[in-house]
Amino acid sequence: MKVEEAPNPLAEGLHDYRVADTAVMVIFGATGDLSGRKLLPALYNLAKQRSLPAGFAVVGAAMSDVTDDAFRKLASEKIHQFSRTKPIDDRVLEAFLSSLSYVKVDFSKLDDFRALAQRLQELDSSRHIPGNRIFYCATPPPTYQTIALQLQAAALNTGGGFHRIVVEKPFGSDLNSARELTQTLQKVFPENSVYRIDHYLGKETVQNILAFRFANSIFEPVWNANLIDSVQITVAEEIGIEQRGAYYDQAGALRDIVQNHALQLVALTAMEPPLAFDATAVRDEKVKVLRAVRPLLGDDIAKSTVRGQYTKGWVLGEQVIGYCDEKNVAPDSQTETFAALRLSIDNWRWAGVPFYVRAGKRLPKSVTEIRVQFKRPPHLTFGREAMQEVDPNAITLRIQPEEGISLKFGAKVPSAGLRIRSVNMDFQYLTSFLVEAPEAYERLLLDCMIGDPTLFTRADEVEAAWHLIDPIEESWRNGVPPLGMYPGGAWGPEAATMLLQADGREWHRP
Ligand code: BG6
Repeated sequence: MKVEEAPNPLAEGLHDYRVADTAVMVIFGATGDLSGRKLLPALYNLAKQRSLPAGFAVVGAAMSDVTDDAFRKLASEKIHQFSRTKPIDDRVLEAFLSSLSYVKVDFSKLDDFRALAQRLQELDSSRHIPGNRIFYCATPPPTYQTIALQLQAAALNTGGGFHRIVVEKPFGSDLNSARELTQTLQKVFPENSVYRIDHYLGKETVQNILAFRFANSIFEPVWNANLIDSVQITVAEEIGIEQRGAYYDQAGALRDIVQNHALQLVALTAMEPPLAFDATAVRDEKVKVLRAVRPLLGDDIAKSTVRGQYTKGWVLGEQVIGYCDEKNVAPDSQTETFAALRLSIDNWRWAGVPFYVRAGKRLPKSVTEIRVQFKRPPHLTFGREAMQEVDPNAITLRIQPEEGISLKFGAKVPSAGLRIRSVNMDFQYLTSFLVEAPEAYERLLLDCMIGDPTLFTRADEVEAAWHLIDPIEESWRNGVPPLGMYPGGAWGPEAATMLLQADGREWHRP
């Protein structure tokens, strides 16, 4: 057998063979961007791997007046454009498209929801669906409450079968609005039927943080303040705000990324081992650690937070415009496109270990990583000179791109003398498992159909995160600390460098 034909034992079991209970998924906002880029391609890929049960149906629901056929045509185009797997399997696609239909729904009109209810009943009888419903709000957040209340008014949240609602981040824009949203949703659906999507949790590499920590015995004993010096979490993007000026100018990096994706990474890195990998145990531990993060208040906000905004510059050899020149952004906007925080976790494990978090747009490269920096050895056995080229040990969990994990340690340089240099021990997903990971939305949609909310954020997690973010937002609105400018293509404003320098540290260059 030639080497390239040998089966890779690690590639076994890579497909998700779980099959969901049959249901109708209603996608509100079905003609919009999220549905076309992510949801419909993810459903097609689930169909391809046979995870969609017989009878499963999708009803597109949006304001536009389109026919079933026009919706199917749109879906087909989007799937061709955005599917993770290519080429498209025509037989699978045709079967999938035949399960699609469309109902025009104006969210303010109860009659439209009644018409939707009628369509769902017809599908139940023609496709033998036992009343199971998933309502996916792929719509702007201000519509979530209206949709939920209309579903209730049209009695679409009751009857035989399960009834689940899926909402996308942002969950509110501060603690109060998040609570209000939760209260409304909970009037209509019990908490365990509310699926709040933070798509980072669907990423394989994010789930692997828990596998790395808790499926191995050698890392956890060193995963604490005894040996760890600091943790750096970076969510860097080359892209600017693209066509999302209207949303982004209201949100900023702190609300858009830090409140959700970045704090989720903090929680997964810092949480205690859950009793089991189930929704209650995992989310209980995440909430506990988020509550142990010391809120930044008063003077600490000026000392421990940095906000920045990109001006014109160069990213990957291309000239880019400044944030204030972007479409739908106020010309004198003070919205941050970069945020950095120094966080402390007040518990036994992490006392004295700073967690530095940064997120930004128009940075030199797109990379998301968690870098766990260890302390220096307590004694210089080989003398200062031999150790000149050695950095302290570090474990980097690379979330994207080039997904993998690396461990940095010192090794003797092969030569007569004794010089030590840092080297890396690397694990890469692609070379180890030979396949690309599924899209986050494939995993999350399937989990929702199956009824497993482990990878969705619970109301108390969302609130714990806003509790940390609100005082910072308020101070930033009052101009403290001042907004630092950085040219597109730089690693944020000067103050970001100084934040770590003040502690005798520096940011890792991914
Ligand atoms: C979204 C943010 O939640 O995440 C975007 O709203 C950001 O601003 C995106 O670009 C990043 O996601 P990913 O999967 O590309 O890292």
